[in-house]
Amino acid sequence: MAIEARQIDQARIEAFMGRVVGDFGSVMSAALVVIGDKLGLYKAMAGAGPLTPAELARRTTTSERYVRDWLVNQAASGYVDYDPTTGQYTLPDEHALALADEDSPAFVAGGFQNLTAIIKAEPRIAEAFRTGGGLPWGEHDPGVFVGTERFFRPGYAANLVAHWIPALDGVEAKLAAGATVADVGCGHGASTIILARAYPRSRFFGFDNHAPSIARARQAAAEGGVAERVVFEVADATDYPGGDYDLIAFFDCFHDLGDPVGAARHAHAALAPDGALLLVEPMAGERVEDNLNPVGRIFSAASVLICTPNALASGASADTALGTIATEERLRAALAVGGFRRFRRATATPFNRVFEVRK
Ligand SMILES: C[S@@+](CC[C@H](N)C(=O)[O-])C[C@H]1O[C@@H](n2cnc3c(N)ncnc32)[C@H](O)[C@@H]1O
Repeated sequence: MAIEARQIDQARIEAFMGRVVGDFGSVMSAALVVIGDKLGLYKAMAGAGPLTPAELARRTTTSERYVRDWLVNQAASGYVDYDPTTGQYTLPDEHALALADEDSPAFVAGGFQNLTAIIKAEPRIAEAFRTGGGLPWGEHDPGVFVGTERFFRPGYAANLVAHWIPALDGVEAKLAAGATVADVGCGHGASTIILARAYPRSRFFGFDNHAPSIARARQAAAEGGVAERVVFEVADATDYPGGDYDLIAFFDCFHDLGDPVGAARHAHAALAPDGALLLVEPMAGERVEDNLNPVGRIFSAASVLICTPNALASGASADTALGTIATEERLRAALAVGGFRRFRRATATPFNRVFEVRK
């Protein structure tokens, strides 16, 4: 039936258009958030009180002409406040935590860097829809690697030592006493370095098959003063060296792997008999309808644009590629085939599921 011949609900069209206009604004403004982050506009506004465009431009050595319209966009986005009586703009303290303070658990500017870099892969992903092929992690825009670290680090800093490790049976005591830990798919090593700083008696090994990420992780370990106890090596999740690890962790990477069952098998062999596997995965539900919410919207997009393509480029089939919204049941099954018998959800945040897996 032709669309005109059907009953069209005018109010529904208008409601949908309203939603789309909001999405247009979000997409366009994302680049402006990246600009504000990159040029220090948010940092200059943080705690500075009300500023005119000219004052902000002067403080950041940027062009007042651009800053003027950037501020209008930021005010229209609800990111800064505007006072029409003075023509000044203010970054509220709460927003400054999210946009200007890299150490805050609320910091989100790295997320914008990550997401805007990921979407640059759209032409290759569209082509992959036609071919069924993949796109390796390392072929994304380099902003993805830095952005991922800056996106995830605040959550790890807030949760890993305070909540996730204590949620695992007996692991905190082992780490405090001196344990050997492997962080598989460690990227830039944010999680490895946070753990190393918290547990000075333990030794840490970070593995990733993306060589530029390992080079950056080594640099970060030196900057963080933990290079003596942290070794970063280029290695695949299915063949990293060492054994008898007390803890093997997969932070936001198990679902990216080309061979998750092979990675589970290798971890099973490399883990001490009473060792624990920590699996941190994006929040997702068991049913499609459980993902029909703002977080599911983000992670299903990530699955299409980055995680599933990496799995498909690295040997997974359409059936075995887990992707970002892999259900708990699929994760459990992959680990079970790899030899693990115990699997439980230890804790969760709005963005992450945290599993403890044992032999
Ligand atoms: C989403 S990033 C997460 C990085 C890091 N764990 C974090 O949480 O910041 C996924 C990581 O998995 C790595 N990866 C993908 N496939 C891999 C494999 N087969 N072996 C080792 N690392 C892999 C990628 O290079 C990338 O660094």
